[in-house]
Amino acid sequence: MHLTSTCVTIAPSRCAGCGNCIRVCPSDILSLKNSIAHAASDTSTARCLQCGHCMAACPESAITIPALDPDLQDFTTFATDPAWLPPGRGLPTQNLARLICSRRSCRHYKQTPVEKDKLTDLIRLAVFAPSGTNSQAWTFTCLSSRPEVLALGQSIKAFFERMNKKAENFLLRKSLALFGAKTLDHYYTNYYESVKTAMEQMEKEKRDRLFHGAPALILIGSSPGASCPKEDALLAASNILLAAHTMGLGSCLIGYAVAAMGADRSIQKELGIPESETIHAAVALGYPDESYQRITGRKQPAIRFR
Ligand SMILES: Cc1cc2nc3c(=O)[nH]c(=O)nc-3n(C[C@H](O)[C@H](O)[C@H](O)COP(=O)(O)O)c2cc1C
Repeated sequence: MHLTSTCVTIAPSRCAGCGNCIRVCPSDILSLKNSIAHAASDTSTARCLQCGHCMAACPESAITIPALDPDLQDFTTFATDPAWLPPGRGLPTQNLARLICSRRSCRHYKQTPVEKDKLTDLIRLAVFAPSGTNSQAWTFTCLSSRPEVLALGQSIKAFFERMNKKAENFLLRKSLALFGAKTLDHYYTNYYESVKTAMEQMEKEKRDRLFHGAPALILIGSSPGASCPKEDALLAASNILLAAHTMGLGSCLIGYAVAAMGADRSIQKELGIPESETIHAAVALGYPDESYQRITGRKQPAIRFR
């Protein structure tokens, strides 16, 4: 027999009543009844985060979360140990530190296509990032060929051409600012010149100043219902950036693409992305055509202990 709530299934015959699941549940929906773990009968998807902590903590494998796909960590392009890694064991910090410090934003790519299996594995790794209230409401749109990336680049370039034309209009800028709409004035001060130069380079030198010649792109968006959609997307992106480096890929976040797609929703429509979704991160990917000699430092961070 299985005790099933909307989102947690507990096999009572396997439960040893250790209470581990109760301790790790962030929503307090589990309790012991007659020494057997029990999910509150009113457990709805709203209360249970479906985070899988109970399932992960159970020494008897008595708990399953039907919504979680156990095959998601079956990666295609590399083999991994499926066993949980306890804190402080197995993975030397110096290896992770070297990876974190060696990743750089890549702005020169070879035209070799990125294998779809690698893109899929990157996304599988992305979704192991934390997400606000475990909503996991992210969406991933892959552009896996250079022509697709170029076509998106053209739409974004057209957007910035229109933007620069508007920003050139002194009267429009100032009158909008007068009524509190300072975005155009801010754009003019901070981006107009660099965007103008980049577009001239794209036009005259056929240099891809937007996606840097990348042959692949992953757009990370959110579907409605996420509590922290932007943060979720950037955390997922961070997994992708680091994992890409280990796979021999270069990567770069492209904020200009996100800004254009946010301001002109027709661009995502061209890609078949539903209107209900919002794009929060764009990750350019490809085999790097640049290399570095060393790890540089960073600016001193402001650290405060109180
Ligand atoms: C939110 C965000 C947006 C970014 N947008 C762009 C972009 O549009 N184009 C670009 O070339 N780099 C972009 N970058 C990359 C940064 O310029 C880069 O991370 C920074 O210069 C530090 O270099 P590193 O990534 O090599 O350590 C972006 C980075 C972030 C975090």
